[in-house]
Amino acid sequence: MDATRIIVAAAIALASASVAHAADAPPGAASCSGCHAASASVQTPVPPLNGRPAADTVSQMAEFKSGARKGTIMDRIAKGFTEDETRAIATWYEQQK
Ligand code: HEC
Repeated sequence: MDATRIIVAAAIALASASVAHAADAPPGAASCSGCHAASASVQTPVPPLNGRPAADTVSQMAEFKSGARKGTIMDRIAKGFTEDETRAIATWYEQQK
């Protein structure tokens, strides 16, 4: 039953790889990339978050949250995150290339 063993080993390797990847990104970060392009070189109306200074993302999110800056959608999204969560997400995106 060597084939079974190989399949089981592969499944475990895959599972741990995806767990490790999920642990990389803080909670909520994956939800941003549905709209914000993953690559900084892509031209879209929604600015990429990758490589963006964390302080900048945090202050924009705070402005959306408080209503100081109007958005079509970000005002509502920003309200869903605490300051700590926003900072963790912003710091993570700053490190993405
Ligand atoms: C449903 C699509 C969508 C999702 C999901 C989304 N965004 Fe946005 N984001 C936008 C749009 C559209 C704008 C432009 C402002 C507006 O219309 O609300 C924007 C603008 C921004 C800006 C301001 C950028 C600038 O240069 O003005 C920041 C910062 C930002 N988003 C961060 C985030 C973060 C962090 C997340 C995840 C927690 C996120 N966004 C999730 C659509 C989205």
